[in-house]
Amino acid sequence: MTRFDPSGPLRGSLRPPADKSISHRAALIAAMSEGSTRIEGYLDAADTNSTLAAVADLGAQLGRGETTASVPPGGDLEAARRALPGPGHEIRGVGLRGPGSAAIDVGNAGTLLRLLPGWLAGQEGGRWRLDGDDSIRRRPVDRVAEPLRRMGAELSCREERLPPLEIAGAPLRGIEYELPVASAQVKSCLLFAGLLAEGETRIVEPLPTRDHSERMLAAAGADVRREGDTVVIQPAERLEIAHIVVPGDLSSAAFFVVAALLVGGSEVAIEGVGLNPTRTGLLAILERMGASIETLPGTERGGEPIGDLRVRPSALAATEVGGVEVPLAIDELPLVALAACFAEGTTTIRDAAELRRKESDRIATVSAALNALGGEVEATADGMVVTGTGGLRGGAVDSHGDHRIAMLGAVAGLASEDGVEVRGMEAAAVSYPGFEADLASLLDPA
Ligand code: S3P
Repeated sequence: MTRFDPSGPLRGSLRPPADKSISHRAALIAAMSEGSTRIEGYLDAADTNSTLAAVADLGAQLGRGETTASVPPGGDLEAARRALPGPGHEIRGVGLRGPGSAAIDVGNAGTLLRLLPGWLAGQEGGRWRLDGDDSIRRRPVDRVAEPLRRMGAELSCREERLPPLEIAGAPLRGIEYELPVASAQVKSCLLFAGLLAEGETRIVEPLPTRDHSERMLAAAGADVRREGDTVVIQPAERLEIAHIVVPGDLSSAAFFVVAALLVGGSEVAIEGVGLNPTRTGLLAILERMGASIETLPGTERGGEPIGDLRVRPSALAATEVGGVEVPLAIDELPLVALAACFAEGTTTIRDAAELRRKESDRIATVSAALNALGGEVEATADGMVVTGTGGLRGGAVDSHGDHRIAMLGAVAGLASEDGVEVRGMEAAAVSYPGFEADLASLLDPA
């Protein structure tokens, strides 16, 4: 049990860890590429380490690689390196058609589980088995198996929908596929498969989802373009990408954004965070609730917009969240529910049944956690109805092994009256191993 007591103000600045989604893609696309790729600021966390191990199992060569922080003449190299969100990595790829047969342990990483089959399914003669931890074994893979089979892939999974997933490489053909649910993971899987298919592959999205794969594949030389709600990719001979920069993760920073909003007297600056518009749904939702969040857009690095945020406590009002906003804030909806406990009025989150298929059933785990702390949260089939109570009393929260529930419990504790005990805080290491240290630095700025 880890205890998070009601806290004084959070103050200071924070550089969040590297983006998890972009790190997974960086390792996979580097492995698919010819020659060597330098990745700056790769996320050093359990999930993304699973992806490094996976690409090594497939034959890619990993080096720790010196980071190439850019330093002005006479500048401080060490300071510049420390400013990067994570360590550097050098990956020598196996090429688009080069991965060797292997049994892959994806750990807890749903993104790896869903993206990797797209690359492997079209490799004639190869065989792979993907499996992971108990939580992974409950996460559906039929959502990728079904469209891949339409492309000609040979796959089998447990009970037709769960891992382990067995893949026998086979020739693929391009298809047009309408995604039944908005999922960047499924879209990315089919984009990878499209690189090896005969003819073009067209993926129709019901709603826009994060587009990191499209951006990085284009940077690696793939012919990928958007036509309205459809992403179109052509087969490729080769990919090559010398350099990838991973921005800070807004999904990790989000815990401190909400903490600074809820804890009186706070003032937090978040630096070097990815501001890709397919990821910033939380900021729009919180601003609509009355949050004071200043966004300072910076530059674009490696095709991804990056900037800073400044957050101060604000009185919040209830809101309605649904439709197009849901995929843009999917991993932050637990924090919307937490903020809604502190808001005036009743907040409704709908069209978010996908939350039930994350690292835990987040409609069940979030509503149970917040209700245990004195909140008034009703779980619905596709979301939550949260009645603002002006605050939370406190109590105990079980993370259910879900990193985002663990960190939600911690933030709730800081803003609560009596504090919160989190059971299973170690789950935070899946995406944010330095969470408690970063929190301590904001509570006690040097
Ligand atoms: C991710 C996409 C989202 C998100 C997950 C990471 C990605 O999942 O919830 O944490 O990196 O593509 P879906 O695309 O399945 O909704």
